[in-house]
Amino acid sequence: MAQWDALVDAALAGLASRSLLRATRPISLSPPPETPETFPGPGPWDRAGVEIRLDRATLHQWLAEGGEASGQEEELGENLILFSGNDYMGLSSHPAIREAAAKAAQEYGMGPRGSALICGYTSYHKLVEESLAELKKKEDCLLCPTGFSANMAVMTALGSISSLLAVGRKPTGDERIAIFSDALNHASIIDGIRLVERQQEAVAFVYKHCDMSHLDFLLSSCSIEKKVVVTDSLFSMDGDFAPLPQLVELRRKYGFLLVIDDAHGTLVCGDNGGGAPELFDCENEIDISVGTLSKAAGCLGGFVACSTRWKRLIQSRGRSFIFSTALPVPVVASVHAALHVSRKEQWRRTLVWRHVQYFASLTKLDITSPIISIVVGSEEAALRAGRHMLRSGFHVTPIRPPTVPPNSCRLRITLSASHSSDDIKRLVDALTSWLPGKHAKQSFSKGHAEQSFTTSSKL
Ligand SMILES: Cc1ncc(COP(=O)(O)O)c(C=O)c1O
Repeated sequence: MAQWDALVDAALAGLASRSLLRATRPISLSPPPETPETFPGPGPWDRAGVEIRLDRATLHQWLAEGGEASGQEEELGENLILFSGNDYMGLSSHPAIREAAAKAAQEYGMGPRGSALICGYTSYHKLVEESLAELKKKEDCLLCPTGFSANMAVMTALGSISSLLAVGRKPTGDERIAIFSDALNHASIIDGIRLVERQQEAVAFVYKHCDMSHLDFLLSSCSIEKKVVVTDSLFSMDGDFAPLPQLVELRRKYGFLLVIDDAHGTLVCGDNGGGAPELFDCENEIDISVGTLSKAAGCLGGFVACSTRWKRLIQSRGRSFIFSTALPVPVVASVHAALHVSRKEQWRRTLVWRHVQYFASLTKLDITSPIISIVVGSEEAALRAGRHMLRSGFHVTPIRPPTVPPNSCRLRITLSASHSSDDIKRLVDALTSWLPGKHAKQSFSKGHAEQSFTTSSKL
């Protein structure tokens, strides 16, 4: 997008003139060992990823939350099937990923010793950035300590543009950045926006969840030139997708910068695991794609896939990147292996989507992703539903405020390639009385997260 490229270039020139441009200087490590081993189907390690244990005290405490602990828990098994994680591809327990981390820890130790700009950045980090840039079809990529910090870094770098261009004074109202944010965006986006608003670098507008008419209206009513739209691609608490094709159309109309947080889509969506933009065939229209390595990659860390000029700005101005210790080499080595396994074990992606279809066919629910939200209403109802699932042998955490607003408490169920069809059948049997139509107070619906739409359209 030419207008934004020019703005970023001007901001970079401002930084260069004040000697504030920063770049990473990778420490050389010998290349990661041989190609990680991959497999044609699930192995015992997949069971290890979803079969978990809770000790008696924890079980007792969980049941006691509703006054139901009465010694009956003695009869309960301590083994549970996990349906509340974000390990969609089942990679967290994969042998190749474990081995890569273990070998790197043996060879290079654990702590990265400093932030990326000081001494924590290595040739392993660079290699993973290159792989992620390729996966996301972007020129470049910046690894961050977490997905949370990646979103914060993008927002602070964005806000810095208006300050850098105003040179030595606060940007006036129209010189600020107008950020349009979906009402259900993740907390890390919301906090990043709040920060730049407080710095008087940006003005925020919250549009109703996935409501493109509302967004169109807000965009058309806004006189600020520098416009940005930011959205989760796959919403973490509701499991629905942002309408990327319509966002792309609006981007053509208004020329805004389109930033997505593909935390839950990365490796899960698209034939290559490129994420929601690959699924919707709009990779070239996404300007900045944030992601996390702590969900489907089964590891830890965050990243920003973008152009080289944006990367230069974010690594020079993104405070949560600059002032945080880099990812440890064993973690980066495990991500490198995870990306390889994700490419080679295509069956994992196929299987997780097959599970989605199977769950939908058993429940007749209109679900669109491996994140399934069963809204039950009050906190009490959610806790009761959670206890029921626990007694039935499933770890499904009830989600309550502040993660979701009052009275949209829910069971959030996530499907993984490590689950078997039998796990899903038994889960649905246990869920039956909580499904829509089966229980007076429950409904399956699109819920609302922490930052719901307010009449003032402000965060
Ligand atoms: C949509 C979204 N973005 C960002 C994050 C933060 O990622 P991380 O856990 O890597 O900090 C999460 C994690 O909960 C998320 O759901």
